[in-house]
Amino acid sequence: MTDIAIIAIDGPAGSGKSSVSKQAARALGFGYLDTGAAYRALAWHVLAQGADTADDAAVRAAASAFPYAISLDPDDYWVRVGETDVTAAIREPRVSSAVSAVARIPEVRAQVNELFRTLAAASTRPGVIIEGRDITTVVAPDAPVRILLTADPEVRAARRSAELTDQDAAAVAAALHKRDASDATVVDFLNAAPGVEVVDSTDLDFAQTVDAVLGVVHEKLETA
Ligand code: DC
Repeated sequence: MTDIAIIAIDGPAGSGKSSVSKQAARALGFGYLDTGAAYRALAWHVLAQGADTADDAAVRAAASAFPYAISLDPDDYWVRVGETDVTAAIREPRVSSAVSAVARIPEVRAQVNELFRTLAAASTRPGVIIEGRDITTVVAPDAPVRILLTADPEVRAARRSAELTDQDAAAVAAALHKRDASDATVVDFLNAAPGVEVVDSTDLDFAQTVDAVLGVVHEKLETA
């Protein structure tokens, strides 16, 4: 990429990677790029067109004309498709359960990965934290800092259901495990690739997890 320091963070759903990455970006004065939001926005876009995310041709067509924009400012986070602000809509269960189908198409992945590299390279900040599932391995394998943020499955499910208080806890856990299983067939985000530091947040609270991530970032950037 460019002189911009890239911090790559991968992890499964409910590992806390979005909130932790955002907070770490604030502490560092870096940008924050949520790559899952692109897949979610594309799934939203396909559904908004009345198409089915299981229809690969429809998804590829939607991806080829995808008017997507995202903020890299951790203090002013938004996602848009065309004129529509989809920041909240892309977290709805109907999008969460449709998104894996969109993310498993190789051409779509290649297309959004280019978008991520372009967005990060255009940052006006000294660095960008990019978080997702394949950032440490595919999007930015040469990043000076690469972290896999994990937590035990039960802890991840409990965290996710604490966020989604309006939904049944057992249903939230089942949906999370189903999505992880489906996503893991596309990219391995449950095992660290060589050179990737593991931060296990199972027994850490939010602040401790942020500190652990920042510890790895400082150590790696000093030796880079
Ligand atoms: O992190 P998230 O739950 O918002 O991600 C939404 C979906 O996008 C998730 O089901 C997997 C997929 N995804 C991916 O395949 N690769 C990424 N780099 C980020 C997300």
